[in-house]
Amino acid sequence: MRRPFIAGNWKLQKTIGEALELVEALKKQVAGVDGVDIVVAPVFTALTKVAEALDGSNISLAAQNCYTEKSGAYTGEVSPPFLKDAGCSYAIVGHSERRQIFGETSAFVNAKVKALLDEGLQAIFCIGETLQERESDQMYDVLSAQVKEGLTGLDAADMQNVVIAYEPVWAIGTGKTASNEQAGEAHAFIRGLVRGLFDEETAEAVRILYGGSVKPGNVDGLMAQPDVDGALVGGASLQADDFARIVKFERA
Ligand code: 13P
Repeated sequence: MRRPFIAGNWKLQKTIGEALELVEALKKQVAGVDGVDIVVAPVFTALTKVAEALDGSNISLAAQNCYTEKSGAYTGEVSPPFLKDAGCSYAIVGHSERRQIFGETSAFVNAKVKALLDEGLQAIFCIGETLQERESDQMYDVLSAQVKEGLTGLDAADMQNVVIAYEPVWAIGTGKTASNEQAGEAHAFIRGLVRGLFDEETAEAVRILYGGSVKPGNVDGLMAQPDVDGALVGGASLQADDFARIVKFERA
């Protein structure tokens, strides 16, 4: 059985003070939860303070991005060794906002995944099609290319430190969630891609999260899909009550 994985991507929101308030409330609400990996991804500037606040709790820390080189003359970048130093266990890479707004390519995302694994960190590797790609029947080609290019050069052992997040771009921040069936279908396809690239055992073990307008009201149905192993939550992760309810999703 795959261990459920619920992560909150705070994006460019929550000052240090607000972040600490949120994690204090969250810690109380999820203190009794076990059997679920719980992760929050604050803004870079809040990472160290949030890491201190999470110490000894059942919540782990992720960054929202990373650079590919370890250190050097790369003004403005933050790399895996520095994220580890700040208390992170994970980083999100390949988020559609980075691909679309900042022009990140699959090759760059692949280098980020490798840089994280090199440092002993885990990658939350995001993929997803746009509405136009879905409507023009390119969805499977797009997902296939993103998975192949993003995971190039990894072996089955590396995949133990990769979590895949399927986030259809049209469902992000729009309130338009993929239906349970749409999510289930895409996840099964992605697991099949992992099977083809690696092996059966790796495909069965890899966690595939759904992201895109996950809320307390729709998480249970999504999590009931056999290939949906968790959620990457944006808006609803900014409220302790909502995120805690998502963490405590009801098992079908
Ligand atoms: P929303 O939950 O706000 O749609 O955001 C999803 C997301 O992009 C998480 O990474």
